[in-house]
Amino acid sequence: MKTRWYKDAVFYQIYPRSFKDSNGDGIGDIRGIIEKIDYIKGLGVNAVWLSPVYKSPNDDNGYDISDYRDINPEFGTLDDWKEMVAIMHENGIKIVMDLVVNHSSDEHPWFQESRKSKDNPYRDYYIWRKGVGKKPPNNWSSRFAGSAWKYDELTDEWYLHLFSEKQPDLNWANPAVRREVIDICNYWFELGVDGFRCDVITYISKAEGLPKGKFNPVLRGDEHFVAEPKIHNYLNEINKESWSKYDSMIVGEAAGLKLEDACLLIAEDRNEMDSVIQFETALVDLKMNVFPTKLNLRKFKKIQSAWQNLPEGCWNTLFYENHDQPRSISRYGNADGPYRKELAKMLAVSYMMLRGTPYIYQGQEIGMSNIALKPDEYADIMTKRIFDTVKKYFPPLYPLAVKIMKKVARDNARTPMQWNGLAHAGFSDVSPWFKINPNFGDVNVVIQETNPNSILMFYKKIVEFRKGNEIIINGEYKEYFPNNRSLYVFERSLKQKRYIVICNFKEHSVNLNAIDLHAMNAQLVLSNYPNSTQSFTNGMTLRPYEAVIYYIES
Ligand code: NOJ
Repeated sequence: MKTRWYKDAVFYQIYPRSFKDSNGDGIGDIRGIIEKIDYIKGLGVNAVWLSPVYKSPNDDNGYDISDYRDINPEFGTLDDWKEMVAIMHENGIKIVMDLVVNHSSDEHPWFQESRKSKDNPYRDYYIWRKGVGKKPPNNWSSRFAGSAWKYDELTDEWYLHLFSEKQPDLNWANPAVRREVIDICNYWFELGVDGFRCDVITYISKAEGLPKGKFNPVLRGDEHFVAEPKIHNYLNEINKESWSKYDSMIVGEAAGLKLEDACLLIAEDRNEMDSVIQFETALVDLKMNVFPTKLNLRKFKKIQSAWQNLPEGCWNTLFYENHDQPRSISRYGNADGPYRKELAKMLAVSYMMLRGTPYIYQGQEIGMSNIALKPDEYADIMTKRIFDTVKKYFPPLYPLAVKIMKKVARDNARTPMQWNGLAHAGFSDVSPWFKINPNFGDVNVVIQETNPNSILMFYKKIVEFRKGNEIIINGEYKEYFPNNRSLYVFERSLKQKRYIVICNFKEHSVNLNAIDLHAMNAQLVLSNYPNSTQSFTNGMTLRPYEAVIYYIES
């Protein structure tokens, strides 16, 4: 059944709340997406990952689902959704939905039943335990700060929530829960969806007995639920009963996953998932996963190269941004400097030329950047929880927390899409649910659509360049100069044909003498400056954030 179409796909991720508001309530919606199908198609992408649009009380912006089979009224109706999918399909665009089943909302009828009594038929849909005296059953921590357990007076037991208290973890050890997940997947496949992005799928299986986690000031318990071995049985079961019956693409969000365990989840012959969204690259500039540091390019390249060298039969996912990450141009370079455009384009080259399926997150293609929010302007539950916890337990560290969140907060990526320079950035007719980045007058779609040298036009160019290009899709990967602290240089090759990709990650010029492109008769095929060098008899100089792609045939 599987054609593995995703190998030649470029994805566009839509975070619906912030994409386009069609009905003047300040919240993005499905009809807003329909309005923008031509724009999406114009990017050249052929697949969309849609963040959750299901019914939800929005404790975590839709990642807390109260009805897996219906659409949140603020986004529209199931009929709107069907119309959107039909139009996408007519335009050759596949659609992958978010599948959030590590946890549900506490407002889901399953949980409402589950908490009623210890002998309720739904009790075992969730993970309930007795406390230890007045304390929680173990020391695991929520990813949103604090304990991962919430006491419920009604039955004098605690339930596990690895995210917010309103996101109780489902009990995957219960076959009835797995059956529900299978039925949900089949329901959406029958309605036309092409696959799923499985939210924190690496957390679904918890070790027998829920043992205490080893000491860690921030995240405790991971070793007992990240890719715990039973996950493979669970995924095999869903794969057999659902995913493999359709021409699907299943990509798992793999928090905490180590490279050496990745293939167990994605090798084609293991019948689990097709690919994982790994976090090693995204965490490279965070000390202890928390404190932002300057990008160490050597470390960054080492991780990218290791994932590029996954064995045959294991497929990569390529991304810099999503709704959980700060904006890449603010993170990996100087977004406020004179080379902002070159930076954004260089970053595009540095990952779009790799092996795997690339994802572009809405706004990345126009170079949207971080927004400097005041502490009380954040909307994201995670940031709010972190601030509350620091204020309560470590008040002297609060100013530091504010400084850190400015750089890493998820809200940086959740500001409304900047469509034009008019009121509300063309996102909505009214003041939107969340602050718009004040730079929308300069950074917006309309301005860039008419400028052939814009970031947007460059994204279109590189997507087009990639599409159907066998060397980029299937070619070998080889890294040059891994110790160079400024340049990322790699080769993609297939038989006699190859590309050499050179990206300058620095905001100043950098010389490269050790590669004799002249002797190789290399032809420049793409670059982010209007006149990149074709002559390199004495080596070459890369200008600030310059990126060049050369083609060589031997
Ligand atoms: C990962 C999602 O991407 C994130 O936005 C969410 O908060 C957590 N999983 C919990 O569902």
